[in-house]
Amino acid sequence: MYKNILIESADNICTISINREAKLNALNIATLAEIKDAIEHGNQDKDIYAFILTGKGVKAFAAGADISEFANFSVAEATKMSADGHAVMNAIENSVKPVIAAVNGFSLGGGCELAMACHIRIASSNAKFGQPEVNLGVPPGYGGTQRLVQLVGKGKALEMLMTADAIDANTALSLGLVNQVVEQADLLATCHKLATKISRKSPLAIQNVINCVNDSFSEGKDGFNTEIEVFGKAFGTLDFKEGTDAFLNKRRANFRD
Ligand code: COA
Repeated sequence: MYKNILIESADNICTISINREAKLNALNIATLAEIKDAIEHGNQDKDIYAFILTGKGVKAFAAGADISEFANFSVAEATKMSADGHAVMNAIENSVKPVIAAVNGFSLGGGCELAMACHIRIASSNAKFGQPEVNLGVPPGYGGTQRLVQLVGKGKALEMLMTADAIDANTALSLGLVNQVVEQADLLATCHKLATKISRKSPLAIQNVINCVNDSFSEGKDGFNTEIEVFGKAFGTLDFKEGTDAFLNKRRANFRD
């Protein structure tokens, strides 16, 4: 049903692969809409516990928004493109199930913004990260000026945003832009293992963690207050009963049955 992405589900993990390898997985508008749709459907699917987002091939996660598509856009079209792109990134960031970016190569412009919208980023050693938009006469348009600051701090973010220089995977690791660097051959297995580990925790508690952390960065929200609220509410859930009972009875918690 999708034209630009591939969906594979195994062991309750849904892997979404951008499937435009010949264009280095450049993110045209249709691709972004499909990613959003896949995340939204997966969030409704009780058999899906987590997502891995990656790009097809060995060269690129996504080399940015599709320049050939937007080159002749009007101001109105570009504004809509950016707003729609933000909605895609927000859908990923606010997914109630964890989204792990398996960054398998170039992660530039919109590709870097896509990776940054995910909850966790694992990079292959050949990955490169950058926001080269100023080379094209525009600032980033899919949240890059905000999420890069959140992840690496204002000074480094401004340097990357203003120089357009790409950084390698180990530099991204040292800046906190990625969580781990692995060899490309191990990338998907590493992400799968991580997704499985998180999936064994309380799904409701994971959802609450995502909400609290996101509220820390959301206009008009207070993450501390959200935490008080969801902590209290958690005590009325079966997940809490299962987790505490498992601890007290020295057994492994099972939150899924
Ligand atoms: N949008 C549209 N097409 C893109 C693209 C993008 N962001 N990035 C790569 N492609 C296309 C190329 O046009 C080329 O298509 P073609 O074979 O039909 O000519 C194909 O993908 C392969 O890219 P190519 O440039 O030949 O690969 P490379 O290994 O020489 O260079 C990059 C790789 C990533 C350095 C280079 O493709 C690049 O600079 N891409 C644009 C990065 C960018 O500015 N992103 C931000 C956009 S807002």
